[in-house]
Amino acid sequence: MGAGTFVGASSINNKAYATNILSPSTLAVRGGNPVILRPDWPSWPIWKPKTDEKKLIEVMRSGIWSRNKLTDEFERKWAELVGSKRCLAVVNGTNALNASLAQLEIGWGDEVLVTPYTFIASVSCILFNGAIPVFVDIDPETFQINPDKIEEKITSRTKAILPVHILGLPCDMERIMSIARKHNLLVVEDACQAWLAEINGKKVGTFGDAGCFSFQNSKNMPIGEGGAIVSDNDAFMDRCYSYHNYGNPYGATAGQISAGTVMIGTKLRITEYQAAIGLAQMKRLKEQTTLRDENATYLKSLIQNIEGITPYKLTPNVTKSAFHLFPFLYNKEGFSGLSRDQFLKALAAEGVPCSGGYAELNKMPFLKNAFNSKYYQKFYSKQELDYDRYSEENKCPANEKLCNEWAVWIPQNVLLGSKSDMNNIANAIQKIKDNAEKIKNKV
Ligand SMILES: Cc1ncc(COP(=O)(O)O)c(C=O)c1O
Repeated sequence: MGAGTFVGASSINNKAYATNILSPSTLAVRGGNPVILRPDWPSWPIWKPKTDEKKLIEVMRSGIWSRNKLTDEFERKWAELVGSKRCLAVVNGTNALNASLAQLEIGWGDEVLVTPYTFIASVSCILFNGAIPVFVDIDPETFQINPDKIEEKITSRTKAILPVHILGLPCDMERIMSIARKHNLLVVEDACQAWLAEINGKKVGTFGDAGCFSFQNSKNMPIGEGGAIVSDNDAFMDRCYSYHNYGNPYGATAGQISAGTVMIGTKLRITEYQAAIGLAQMKRLKEQTTLRDENATYLKSLIQNIEGITPYKLTPNVTKSAFHLFPFLYNKEGFSGLSRDQFLKALAAEGVPCSGGYAELNKMPFLKNAFNSKYYQKFYSKQELDYDRYSEENKCPANEKLCNEWAVWIPQNVLLGSKSDMNNIANAIQKIKDNAEKIKNKV
């Protein structure tokens, strides 16, 4: 997920619960009983001691710890699961993105269109490769890049679009691909939060020239660290493979020279331990994704009529979402002016882990820092690196509102709970609304 510290359920007033002297309608944040008295959301990550631990011990005892057959199997199965011809496992999602851009030759002198509502790695990969990120504002209802705003940002320097299926909800890939085709742009999908999400039955990550995934610890498909690149393009995947293994020859790259290193590369290989954990997690992923999707749809139906709460809206033709986070918009006008921070504190006290989500990425100092770096200064003109002009042109007013006032996230493991857990979350929100006036100035 990468941002937004979750306010956990641990702040529940246990004393009030133990003595049970307060009215159930008193907010937990004011000493009342929380709606969710004994929060027991499935903890994360989940593993099966018998089978998963056995696999890990088998790897250890084999003495084969570096990339080998299990990694090959993991790649084969991940490609099959997402419906892609090829998959390459790499050390993390960040480097899946870095490598994909590099091997598609997206870099110095290029502009890449990206959403500001994402984790930093979706943008740092552009800067790592020497290109300029151009921010396209979001549609706050979907939390995704706004396809209506993409074309106005295209210039003669635009080389690629980097759509991010943020929070596990697909962005409008059908529109994005048609814009990309029209303007002859490459597309690298950041599907680092969107394992098995689909549009019209087609998995995200398989629409563009490359799709990137993350398997970091908090992710719905957790390995601890890990990532993957998927694509149907053999030549590109061969280059990625070479690159992830010091530039050693592989597939089509091997044909270029009889012996020796064929290209500049680095080392991004995963271990057999990671592959073993990944294979075990993959077995559960489909079922867990369906459960999250069902619970999210149910929770949405429960809260959508609460004035002041607007749950996420899906982009057209979404047939499944991954729900790395369950997002909704909070409007304080529906809650007697209670600020989002006050609402989040009250919700956490009722037993619901929650967060306000991302800060504004397009205003963070790392951008200016990259522009000021020796390499950027050498390659680009003063005018191109005029940061005041850049920040003016990259203003994203909808994102500003979303980050600072509207967004509320509930983490994915909560969506592995029961229907009655979902009822409790809705009840907690309603309880805060009913008491908003009383607590406005006191939380
Ligand atoms: C949208 C997005 N992109 C990229 C990444 C980077 O993945 P990793 O943490 O595996 O490097 C993350 C991880 O948090 C992410 O959420």
